Amino acid sequence: MKGKGVFICVEGLDGCGKTTQTKLLVRRLREKGYDAVYTAEPSRGKIGKFIKKYCLHGKKRVSSVVEALLFAADRYEHVENEIIPALNEEKLVVSDRYVYSSLAYQGAAGLDLKWIEKINEHAIRPDLAIFVDVEPEIVIHRLKPNKSVMENLETQRKVREVYMKFVEKGELVKIDGNKSKKEVADGILKVVLRFLEKRVKKP
Ligand code: TMP
Repeated sequence: MKGKGVFICVEGLDGCGKTTQTKLLVRRLREKGYDAVYTAEPSRGKIGKFIKKYCLHGKKRVSSVVEALLFAADRYEHVENEIIPALNEEKLVVSDRYVYSSLAYQGAAGLDLKWIEKINEHAIRPDLAIFVDVEPEIVIHRLKPNKSVMENLETQRKVREVYMKFVEKGELVKIDGNKSKKEVADGILKVVLRFLEKRVKKP
């Protein structure tokens, strides 16, 4: 059950500046008087820590199916232990990554999007989902290449393709992330404030 707060998530490719932008958004919303809180996935819960240690920083990658299940399990804990309690306190929760990351990354790894949606049925819908769009060709230069540059580029392109499907469906709001840090931050804040104003005006 979702409380009275507002739930926003910010998505994007690795290296698109999403974490900086999400933290900046929370700071600017707080300055405007909103009770905003920053949260992230993988979460700081037990499964989130496990993912960081064994999936993201481990020497050997686990299978995409196992990854998808772990991210879905971590999300369950994130929603139950962090997001819903904050929404019940009428806070504005801003999550750095959410279910669209599973759809984009594990989808790009070849898993069926319908199955990913199924195992994430417990994930409450965000009120607003933002996609910080930076060209894959740009982000790969910001990443530590643990594979060949081409493999990384190929992966980032596939991930962006999935994100763009959700932009086209109207589920994600695309922000041009190729501009300066301040311009991107202004763009995100504008979308969020417009959304919050409309929400207040609703009967
Ligand atoms: P971060 O760099 O934003 O902390 O994200 C960690 C990595 O985890 C990033 O490469 C994206 C990946 N990821 C998934 O593959 N699926 C997911 O569901 C989530 C939340 C993250």
